[in-house]
Amino acid sequence: MAAAGPDTPRILVTRKMMPDAERRIASLFRATLNPDDRAMTPAEILDQARYHDGILLTSFDKLGPDFIPSLPDSIRIIATHSVGYDHLSIPQAKAKGIAVTNTPGVLTDATADIALLLILGAARGASWGDRMVRENRWGETTLVSPLGHDVSGKRLGILGMGRIGQAVARRAAAFGMEIHYHSRKPVDGGLAPGARYHARFEDMLPHSDFLSINCASTPETRGMVNATALALLPEGAIVVNTARGDIVDDDALIGALASGRLAAAGLDVFKGEPKIDPRYRGLDNVFLLPHIGSATPGTRSAMAHKCIDNLAQFFRGERPADLLTGD
Ligand code: DGY
Repeated sequence: MAAAGPDTPRILVTRKMMPDAERRIASLFRATLNPDDRAMTPAEILDQARYHDGILLTSFDKLGPDFIPSLPDSIRIIATHSVGYDHLSIPQAKAKGIAVTNTPGVLTDATADIALLLILGAARGASWGDRMVRENRWGETTLVSPLGHDVSGKRLGILGMGRIGQAVARRAAAFGMEIHYHSRKPVDGGLAPGARYHARFEDMLPHSDFLSINCASTPETRGMVNATALALLPEGAIVVNTARGDIVDDDALIGALASGRLAAAGLDVFKGEPKIDPRYRGLDNVFLLPHIGSATPGTRSAMAHKCIDNLAQFFRGERPADLLTGD
């Protein structure tokens, strides 16, 4: 792309990014960065959008349902710094002729690592163990209490066998877990060796000592892990979520954790985050993380560069590699 001139596209970047990505976007575009990393309101983003041709935003931005219809005509592309795009309406973007891109592939391993951290942490009491040490209560441990739960030899049910689900399956298999999964269609056996496919979510649940949620948040999956689903899990099952909080019915999950029907949960994502249901904080059998599935320097940098690649392709007149608004 030519050096910045009056024809150089103007890009609004809503959040601070990794330094190498900020240098690159500033070298390719007339970029408005957010050096203080102040969270912008939807009104501020819309106001700033009037002076830009594209927006690089994140799933952490609170946008609201009217965001895309309210965008000025100057905006031709939105590059979201996330693989998930439930914060953006693709039909609305298509109707307005705005291209939308995301960042698949580059956060697969980092997110699958967090899913395993949640499985291990929830099962073995990472959260209560950490608190016992910090609060100087270690002396309370005995041969029979507190105890965690085994992972090896247990069955893991994976909801959503996309890239991240498959990476979770590979890792969990290495821990000696038996893999079951439900997704819209079976995955090539080579990608999920030994994994057993269940065409119906309800049929997988009784085979899931652990349930890992790895599907996208869509109208079909929102609220899918509800009281009916949780009741089908074996007694003492463990639920982990690295996908989106709204796939889970919080009342049902909290009730099952409080009653002991479920042994534990590990959660990296929450409905309404960062304002989580306060009842989670009071449960000793939940291991809570602040949506850090992609939070490593290498992964966040790769995500930002993917956004920039997509923007550069678009403004060169090419089809962006990660276009969500294609035919
Ligand atoms: C994603 O990329 O969707 C992660 O959850 C971060 O938003």
